[in-house]
Amino acid sequence: MTSASLPPAASPLLDHSPASLPARSYYDPTWFELEQRLLWPKTWIYAGRVAEFVAGTLNRRSIAGENLMVVCDDTGHLRAFHNTCRHRGSELCVAQTQSFNGKLIRCPYHAWAYSASGALVSTAFGTPSDDFTKADHALFPVALKVWNGFVFLCLADEAPAFEPDLGTEILNNWPMNDLVVGHVFQKRLACNWKVFWENYNECLHCPGVHPVLSQRVPIYQQGLMAPNEARSWSPSALPAPALGDGAETWTVSGKLCGPPFTRLTEQERAEAHTFVTLYPSLYLVAHADYVRAVTVIPISPEETLLRAEWLFLPDTLAQSSFDVSDVTDFATQVMKEDGEACEINQRGLKSSKFTHGRLMPEEFDVYGFQQWVLSFLPKDTEAGFK
Ligand code: FES
Ligand SMILES: [Fe+2]
Repeated sequence: MTSASLPPAASPLLDHSPASLPARSYYDPTWFELEQRLLWPKTWIYAGRVAEFVAGTLNRRSIAGENLMVVCDDTGHLRAFHNTCRHRGSELCVAQTQSFNGKLIRCPYHAWAYSASGALVSTAFGTPSDDFTKADHALFPVALKVWNGFVFLCLADEAPAFEPDLGTEILNNWPMNDLVVGHVFQKRLACNWKVFWENYNECLHCPGVHPVLSQRVPIYQQGLMAPNEARSWSPSALPAPALGDGAETWTVSGKLCGPPFTRLTEQERAEAHTFVTLYPSLYLVAHADYVRAVTVIPISPEETLLRAEWLFLPDTLAQSSFDVSDVTDFATQVMKEDGEACEINQRGLKSSKFTHGRLMPEEFDVYGFQQWVLSFLPKDTEAGFK
């Protein structure tokens, strides 16, 4: 639902009904392997909130099958490397999180030691001959970027520009760096990761799949994400309230869960939900009182891990009246409904009769997502899987 907070500059509706991706792209292991090799390593992937990385620790992460580690040195500075020793390739970080002295990363096998910046410092009991240069045997670096308290990694030697769909400044009025995780929801979905993103990118399913959410966000009752998608819309149309029933935010009660963020503009308050998309691993929904971060992780061609983190100001969590379930039950229900829809979709598209679908003009963001996926793959990929 990426368009919810865009200014209604023009109708985004497609002028045709394009074919969707080949059905096999959602379950064929060869297509999945292409994505793992050509798409995921070329993009910025969410790896956790800054606060997860404690000073003096190594932290395992995995992207597209690559074993990585995030190093947090004794000053809290973050760097990332491939989790492999330059001697004979042992893993360096052997646990999800393990402490090191903050200065030297020591290989558990023959004790080669590296600085927190990845330089080889010692070959321990091995005495190198003259043809060995320590400087040529630093750890393999991985690009790391911190944005609004979120840590991203990129496997590419030349990382692409970091580009959330609404720009890097869209959340500047939210106190993003101060927010802490107050609740986590995780669910394994029996669907391809693209099925999840396609569902995210349209609201045609909203009236049927999300009755409670559609009550809360009236535009969703029309199967639309934003007013400018309506056929009757004109640029001079006055904006309607984003939320129905006098609700102030996305909670079960409709009430704010804590004091609203103080720097939001009137328009940001009025929009009630700002969706920010960072393909292929993360989307954010920023409300007036909290933010939800949702991670999409492919496990196999037909399995995807969905993980949601609710982020609050510490003062909000500390309120004696704070009711976390009033906040988290609302979107958890929505994500369960989406997850079920995605699994139904996955099962149906495996019919031998279904080779590809057709998109409706309202599915412009689905189409954009599919074109984005194809942009990473060789030109003839789609034709080869029909
Ligand atoms: S493999 Fe790391 S020191 Fe030998
Ligand atoms: Fe949905």
